[in-house]
Amino acid sequence: MTTMMDRTTTVPPRTNGSLPRVDGALKVSGTAIYTSDHVFPGMLYAVPVCATIASGTVTLIDTSRAEAMPGVKAVYHRANIGKIYRTAPASGFSGIVDERRPPFEDDTVRYYGQYVAAVVALTFEQAVAAANAVKVTYKADKHNVSDHLESDEKSKVDSQRGDPDAAFKTAAVTVDETYGTPTETHNPIELHASVAIWDGQSFTLYETSQAVVNHREVMAQMLGVPTENVRVISRFLGSGFGGKLWPWTHCAIAACAARDLKRPVKLVVTRDMMFQSVGHRPRTQQRVRLGAGADGKLVAVMHDSLNHTSILDDYEEGCSEATAYSYSTPNLRATSGLVRRNVGTPTSMRGPGAVPGLFALESAMDELAVKLKIDPVKLRLVNEPAIDEGLKLPFSSRHFVECLNTGAEKFGWAKRTPEVGSMKRDGLTLGWGVAGCSWIAERMEAEVAVELRGDGTARVSSATQDIGTGTYTVMSQIVSEKTGIPHDRIEVVLGDTALPPGPISGGSWASASLVPAVSQAIEKAHQTVIMAATKSKDTPFVDQKPEALAVTNGRVHLKEKAPETGMAFEEILTRNNIRAVSGQGKSEGTFGEANRKLSKHSFGAQFAEVTWQPEIARLRVSRVVTVIDAGRILNPKPARNQIEGAVVMGVGMAIFEKTKYDSRYGAPINNNLADYMVTTNADSPEIDVTFLDYPDKVINEMGARGVGEIGLAGIAAAITSAVYHATGVRVRDLPVKLEDLMGAPQHLVS
Ligand code: MOS
Repeated sequence: MTTMMDRTTTVPPRTNGSLPRVDGALKVSGTAIYTSDHVFPGMLYAVPVCATIASGTVTLIDTSRAEAMPGVKAVYHRANIGKIYRTAPASGFSGIVDERRPPFEDDTVRYYGQYVAAVVALTFEQAVAAANAVKVTYKADKHNVSDHLESDEKSKVDSQRGDPDAAFKTAAVTVDETYGTPTETHNPIELHASVAIWDGQSFTLYETSQAVVNHREVMAQMLGVPTENVRVISRFLGSGFGGKLWPWTHCAIAACAARDLKRPVKLVVTRDMMFQSVGHRPRTQQRVRLGAGADGKLVAVMHDSLNHTSILDDYEEGCSEATAYSYSTPNLRATSGLVRRNVGTPTSMRGPGAVPGLFALESAMDELAVKLKIDPVKLRLVNEPAIDEGLKLPFSSRHFVECLNTGAEKFGWAKRTPEVGSMKRDGLTLGWGVAGCSWIAERMEAEVAVELRGDGTARVSSATQDIGTGTYTVMSQIVSEKTGIPHDRIEVVLGDTALPPGPISGGSWASASLVPAVSQAIEKAHQTVIMAATKSKDTPFVDQKPEALAVTNGRVHLKEKAPETGMAFEEILTRNNIRAVSGQGKSEGTFGEANRKLSKHSFGAQFAEVTWQPEIARLRVSRVVTVIDAGRILNPKPARNQIEGAVVMGVGMAIFEKTKYDSRYGAPINNNLADYMVTTNADSPEIDVTFLDYPDKVINEMGARGVGEIGLAGIAAAITSAVYHATGVRVRDLPVKLEDLMGAPQHLVS
């Protein structure tokens, strides 16, 4: 591990550390065009008809009344949608889709809200009216949307070492509890949408996609056309949280309708449909067993998790993601299993696996600390591993201990008194809790093109997209750092499969993946500028060897002389009548590396304060201190914004969010932003974010890992531990509800 010393010596100087978002003005002025903003001449509107049972068969679809209604152009269903293919199993990051069944493939209904038909009309209102007039008859079967999960399929072992059962039996102190996290719906403010255009040969699909390249591959397969006949565009996204990573069934409906009717078709998934047919974080149920010696050292860790999935698809949440490497213990086993429910197919939601998994593991650590009467920060310090004991590999860079110590200091942890309800401020009972967090740090393959132009501007492009996290900004920043070109002269073009294939906006790895490719592309463009300089009589470098020249801050110069003695690249291009030079960069991915030599993860510590008013049973999260070790932070502004947003979302996870299925109909019943509670401004705590900023050069030359997801990990466990500290009530099934706290000892004695 690195020390304070090498931290100060290895951080590279920053030229424009805190650049505000380059797309900010477009967004706040309403100029940024989102998917559903697109309008084309002759465009039609599609509105799906959703199943009103959760399990059974469609016996009859009567479209006669709908078809006769004003403006209706077509009503599609199984008999007339035409051929839609299933995708072949995905290879790597290509061809991924979570719900593999194409729309209308059979007459079986497997979840409430499954699309059974779709109306296309001249206006949205006409389509809505006609969709309501489609009469669907069902034969309903018994459905199961129960929150209580019992495995009907055999669990698989995700990680194992030593003999955890034996060690647990003989451990001095043990914890054996089951934790639950509810179904959560991503609820980005921008609704999912598809605007499909067919020109007789090719599709242009405007999509709300966090992964345009994969989206193109999936749609080409489903629609049965060559990949090059599909272009997917997603310029701006109003977030996604993972819900827009892979295509959903509405995309194929819009594209098929556009091809059939030979007119552009827009389909916007409404908020209530968002709860049904575009994924969710699945319900998880996790039994955690910890055994420790009286000194707090873990002798056994067992983490057995289940998550619900849909009837047809195997979505694995991956709750044991961080279990094997978080703490040192000779004996460990992590298993996971699936339980089928009549729900739409789940999908990745911000920090899939690690976020629910660390809620369970870190909650159990807090319970163990209480039993051992050891401070929960100290318990974690005592169990700090020297290496990743799951993979038996060193960490590329792990500063978890410093996260805990820095966080404890900033939070004022030393003043904590451990007894339940023992801390007061302004008449309120305080609860203080802590949890660790972690997230994978990887890269995926990325290609980038850079153009340096004779007018002194640059263009950088890649078929990746910005889901709102700051990809436009970071791309601009890297180009500016490497070329000396100011931001207002750099054009960043993303979100279009016509560009060189870029990474998905997921896994917090877009920035880390793009960094090496941008550098390489610039390097190549610089080499071409040097060639131009040496071949031109009109520059001071004619007949120089290219090896003797360098480009620094946009100026070509002799390596042995200062950049100021050279000539600006645009001058060289202009004198040669060259409009622009370009360079392409390509970086390899790190997934599934043969001979993996290091374990690569980000780490962090979350400290939470709650205030509790037992007299009126009022709970509030008042303060969060979070310390994140995510490598070098490329731009602290959007990075801080990511962590703050994740903490706000973590408050929601801890005390508000839960998608409720109505047992009678199997429908998500709180399917709107009034009934599905998320954290609002008034619920948001004071948030203090610290980045340790140790570059992880194993990831890329800039040492940047990524910050999109890690801030949500651990936060719910820190909050429920604080709730326990304030109230004496341990809530193990999220979210914390007022009724959980009504019987709190503090409520009775105060
Ligand atoms: Mo994130 S759940 O990988 O969009």
